[in-house]
Amino acid sequence: MQEYDFNLNVFPSSREASLVVAKEIADALSLRSSENSSLVLGLATGSTPVLVYEELVRLHLREHLSFKKAKCFNLDEYLGLEATHPESYQEFMKRNLFSKVDILPENAVVPNGKVPYDEIPAYCENYEAKIKDCGGIDIQVLGIGRSGHIGFNEPGSSVDSSTRLVALDDVTRKDAANDFGGINDVPTHAITMGVGTILAARKIYLLVWGKAKAAILADALQGPIDESVPASFIRNHPDVSIFIDEAAGQMLVGR
Ligand code: GLP
Repeated sequence: MQEYDFNLNVFPSSREASLVVAKEIADALSLRSSENSSLVLGLATGSTPVLVYEELVRLHLREHLSFKKAKCFNLDEYLGLEATHPESYQEFMKRNLFSKVDILPENAVVPNGKVPYDEIPAYCENYEAKIKDCGGIDIQVLGIGRSGHIGFNEPGSSVDSSTRLVALDDVTRKDAANDFGGINDVPTHAITMGVGTILAARKIYLLVWGKAKAAILADALQGPIDESVPASFIRNHPDVSIFIDEAAGQMLVGR
């Protein structure tokens, strides 16, 4: 077994891994709540974190986990989608987490995909400022796209990039085509936190499930650390925990 300079946790299934991640987030949130202080969470969308959110909802309903002290900032949003569009990340977060727990609406922040074009730079600066005003992100949850993106930081994104407007990679748009009923309806652009925004989080959890992600996971963890695979930059972070299932780990050398 190869030595890794990051914390790699391999589980038989995504369900088992998701329960552990949810428990760690819940414990951190409960601790802060007991101290009457906030926990700032950076949250991801996509299929990857769904079971984590499901478990957090269960802990809220069955085990008194409260989100009153949680401040959540989502990674990204498609440009041009109304908040109520079924594929908007705003709607995704409402459906999977926010409408099912006791988070205060003002603490459940997802980038606005309908910002007028000329207001986007100021909007993005303000998004960064809001995160900083809350004391920065304590825990950032991440998935990875098959392009190597984290958030929507596609190949070419620099290590110190901040929240901004980006063009989506072809691979990303193809992967989203089913959800949108065809590639032509997949937005071409998005607003995303930057790689620098993500790396500023105090703790990062990267979650990766399934064999479709095996090749990009191997590139991200064992290839060069550079802009061609933005997810590789998380290896420079001092506190990153990587949770994968067996299928996602099958192309890692040394396993
Ligand atoms: C999406 C999101 C990412 C997510 C990734 C993987 O487009 N912008 O934050 O991690 O692509 O998606 P999935 O979890 O569905 O594989």
